[in-house]
Amino acid sequence: MVSSLVITGGQKLKGEIRVEGSKNAVLPILAATVLNGGLNVIKNCPGLKDVEIMIEILREIGCVVSKEGSTIIVDSSSVNSTIVPEAYAIEMRSSIIFLGPILSRFGKATIGHPGGCDIGPRPIDLHLKALKKMGTKIQDAQRGFIYCEADKLKGCDIQLDYPSVGATENIMLAAVFAEGDTYIRNAAKEPEIVDLQNFLIGLGVNISGAGTSVVHIEGAANKKLKNIEHVIISDRITAGTYMVAAAMTGGDVTLKGIVPEHISATVSSLREAGCRINVKRNELHISGPARPKAIDIIRTLPYPGFPTDMQAQIVTMLAIARGTSIVVETVFENRFMYVEELLRMGANIKLEGRIAVIKGVKKLTGAQVAARDLRGGAALVLAGLAAEGVTTVSSIKHIDRGYENIEEKLAQLGALIRREV
Ligand code: EPZ
Repeated sequence: MVSSLVITGGQKLKGEIRVEGSKNAVLPILAATVLNGGLNVIKNCPGLKDVEIMIEILREIGCVVSKEGSTIIVDSSSVNSTIVPEAYAIEMRSSIIFLGPILSRFGKATIGHPGGCDIGPRPIDLHLKALKKMGTKIQDAQRGFIYCEADKLKGCDIQLDYPSVGATENIMLAAVFAEGDTYIRNAAKEPEIVDLQNFLIGLGVNISGAGTSVVHIEGAANKKLKNIEHVIISDRITAGTYMVAAAMTGGDVTLKGIVPEHISATVSSLREAGCRINVKRNELHISGPARPKAIDIIRTLPYPGFPTDMQAQIVTMLAIARGTSIVVETVFENRFMYVEELLRMGANIKLEGRIAVIKGVKKLTGAQVAARDLRGGAALVLAGLAAEGVTTVSSIKHIDRGYENIEEKLAQLGALIRREV
């Protein structure tokens, strides 16, 4: 079923919406429900394709999973398999996050090699190097599978070559039942790491340091972990995406349920582009300018730097800004695929490797465009909101992976947008 979003541009977005729970927090936490062999009640889960796939995997290995609105209940007492089928690894690379918890609890795990995706090769060398150091025997990928075995994982001191989010999470989960303490140095500091730590603390794991570059986990080889109820943090990238929608349409939007310190880099850049932004407690109000101002240079960086997951959205806003901007993508190799679609809408952007030079134009014009990845697809929707005429964004399955009911939320703010199946 190929579906599209049809957008008639030119509406100033107005009103308020609530931002859903974080995709990149709920995915590792759903994998972590394997650890306690008990009951896990996870609240404020976003309704996303990627969450559905995680639930399928949990059921595949024997968990009983039910959903009540945005609450997912996982009973992992009935896990009866340590194999994550290859199909899931291909469909969703972040299924690699099952490696740590399954290995930690059962001493072995077989998982499809995630392979790359559209934004880059997405290697897992940092994950495997750390697990090997903890005592895991890893057979190289055969027929697309990675076979891991560890009689007993040993806690140890791990220095990450790069503050990889997924590697930090996998090591945290593998360390839970290891013998001895694990230190992860040069750890990723993203808020999603902190949410995962809070979940583990709720299970009874002695862990600290998440949000800093050193995370310390006291391995508890045979500890019985507790049942848990946990509320997922708000999605900082979804929040940023709707903020850019307001910025591009000269809108007046209030976002509810946000965590201000998680979006400070995005707020800072949008203020530099001329947006008026007021933040109080868990609410943010943004007023877009008549036309955004160019920003000299933005580099995407690991948290708390400007998020790579906001790169496509900010470039799209700068495409209609007054002046020329430069955006450098330092995290992924190939995260500008949406640019060629923007060029078809009249943007003036030059790409040189990981550098985009964006010469703002007065107006984009509506066109037929195709989403190629999650955030690039969302950026094309933003372009359609500001463009003259009608824009059709196809292949929106990419967008549905990371945004809950995007067209309903934008329509709630006055956008002329509909889903065509
Ligand atoms: C997480 O991906 C997020 N996904 C990504 O969000 C996000 O862009 C990324 O972190 C960076 O913030 C989830 O949390 C599910 P990384 P992850 O490991 O863990 C290289 C979205 O749009 N690397 O921090 O895969 C890698 O190639 C998605 O919501 C290695 O070289 O990101 C990349 O260049 C997209 N070897 C860089 O590190 C490894 O073993 C950052 O990757 C692992 C990573």
